Amino acid sequence: MPRGLFITLEGLDGAGKTTQLKRLAAWMHKRGIDPVITRQPGGTETGDRIRALLLDSRSSALAPLTEMALMFADRAQAIAEVIEPALSSGKIVLCDRFTDSTEAYQGGGRELGSEVVLDLHKILCGNLQPDLTLLLLPSLERSLDRARRRNDRTAEKDGKDEGRFEQEQEAFYRRVWEKYCEIANREPDRVVVIEGDLSIEEVHEQIIEAVAMRLSALHTR
Ligand code: TYD
Repeated sequence: MPRGLFITLEGLDGAGKTTQLKRLAAWMHKRGIDPVITRQPGGTETGDRIRALLLDSRSSALAPLTEMALMFADRAQAIAEVIEPALSSGKIVLCDRFTDSTEAYQGGGRELGSEVVLDLHKILCGNLQPDLTLLLLPSLERSLDRARRRNDRTAEKDGKDEGRFEQEQEAFYRRVWEKYCEIANREPDRVVVIEGDLSIEEVHEQIIEAVAMRLSALHTR
């Protein structure tokens, strides 16, 4: 059985990843592809419990290293339980966030640096690399604005509090943003950057173009 394809979506909170992931999955379904869809943190039973701990604003006293360790605990579980079995059985995996998020948020945002994140990724995740990473990078101003509005709406609607990250200051998000740019420059073959304030349709088209290329490479390998 040839190995499947591992595709990750990355970007700041409010970049539109969730919408694009749904559209990409629908595009695949139309072509008879049934991808495994997962997200981080979360995606397994244990991971959902870790997610609740991480995103609740009551966890405000979490030390940056604790936060990073929990992100990796979640990821190691997701790799063992979901991602690796799917890839080994030839499936396409669409993952909403992966280690680039840890490098951007904990490495950049929390200023722990890239090295420790990449080292832990080797140790805890077997250095598993996505075949393709789609990085959505609308302007920082627009991303911040959307994250703020979304957080207000979520809290109003279901009382569920996942606002801990959205409460971060602009300087934090600026560092996350810069780290994402650094990752993209370092690994241009893996990371496709979709930049600027584009419409949902325009972003979708760019995503499809990048994915279609990888899919045809998969079929000819
Ligand atoms: P989520 O609600 O999934 O946000 P989004 O819809 O924007 O993806 O919340 C995930 C939050 O966790 C988000 O603010 C980014 C953060 N995060 C990290 O800080 N490090 C990580 O390794 C991951 C996977 C997420």
